[in-house]
Amino acid sequence: MLRNLRVGIAGLGRLGKRHAEALAHQTRHCELVAACSPVTQEREYATQQLGVAHVYEDYAAMLANPEIDAVVLVTPTSLHADQTIAALQAGKHVLVEKPLALNVTDCERVLAEAVKHPALVAMVGFVRRFDPSYLHAHTAVAAGDIGRPFLVRSQTCDQNDPEGFFVRFAPTSGGIFMDCSVHDIDLARWMLGRPKATRAFATGTNALHPALAEFGDVDNGMAIVEFEGGQRAVFYASRTMAHGHETSTEIIGTAGKLLVGEHAANDRVIRSDALGVRHGVVKDFYERFEAAFGAEMSAFVAACRGEQALTLTLSDALEATRIGLAITRSLHSGMPEAV
Ligand SMILES: NC(=O)c1ccc[n+]([C@@H]2O[C@H](COP(=O)([O-])OP(=O)(O)OC[C@H]3O[C@@H](n4cnc5c(N)ncnc54)[C@H](O)[C@@H]3O)[C@@H](O)[C@H]2O)c1
Repeated sequence: MLRNLRVGIAGLGRLGKRHAEALAHQTRHCELVAACSPVTQEREYATQQLGVAHVYEDYAAMLANPEIDAVVLVTPTSLHADQTIAALQAGKHVLVEKPLALNVTDCERVLAEAVKHPALVAMVGFVRRFDPSYLHAHTAVAAGDIGRPFLVRSQTCDQNDPEGFFVRFAPTSGGIFMDCSVHDIDLARWMLGRPKATRAFATGTNALHPALAEFGDVDNGMAIVEFEGGQRAVFYASRTMAHGHETSTEIIGTAGKLLVGEHAANDRVIRSDALGVRHGVVKDFYERFEAAFGAEMSAFVAACRGEQALTLTLSDALEATRIGLAITRSLHSGMPEAV
């Protein structure tokens, strides 16, 4: 019998609280034994709401605890690379949220450190790889059901937040493409068989949040990416949808196409009456991907316990960052950019 994986979490913000609750209450074969946050209320939340035994203000102090086997990093993106490296050096498995880092050099530093610790799991949270619908689509593509896939059209669109959470988030997020489209970029590479990206073009606009311009960011962005084998991808990201969260992806092949997630329906009820035909919508990314977040955490725990191998690699995360950066350069330059 393997013992439970003992996990410490860093970051208890918007997503960190969700991951912490999943680790404390929903994921088998693990225990949430430690938490780290510079914010007093977040540390109190860990102690009082989740009963976490060891709570730290300082990340290095948490890593020094020999009773922790693994860490989950849900911290600002600008900290991911250094915190992942420190965890590996402390002998801990790591699940780090996406994107791995905001520049290629930092990604490469993480990959180089991971090579020195082959017994440790280092995984990046590309949650859509664990979503049942995307898994279904990937299995169909791999089986040749749509012939040769050559085009992916994928979007991540959030409901407008009038308070503009993401405007405050902009200085550390890397911008809309690194923050949102990085998921679509990883999906496109996964569905197309990991081709090498060669060139990117992007444009965008600020429809509702002009304050983003100060950070060189937009609230609606569009990008085209070319791959070496002739495959193409088209991405759209938005912070300003009126109706809800709508992540959808179309994978087009020579013998058919697959469509995942169109219209963001939150259940299977369609109401028809004098006002028209309509259904309720998913309100945010967590509602859309709750099951996938659970499966992702289970896969991480199973990998750390040596029960299951991961197909998602750090190289995939590096390539997603490389492509996201070329798209962001193109947004700023207005010209196509080499990847
Ligand atoms: N997979 C997804 O779909 C998805 C969705 C949302 C966010 N994310 C990623 O999760 C990460 C966090 O996003 P968020 O929306 O929860 O942000 P957030 O700002 O709400 O939370 C960040 C947390 O990190 C904590 N923190 C800051 N510095 C720290 C440090 N040095 N050590 C420990 N904790 C520290 C903050 O106190 C806060 O709890 C980002 O990298 C983001 O890209 C991924």
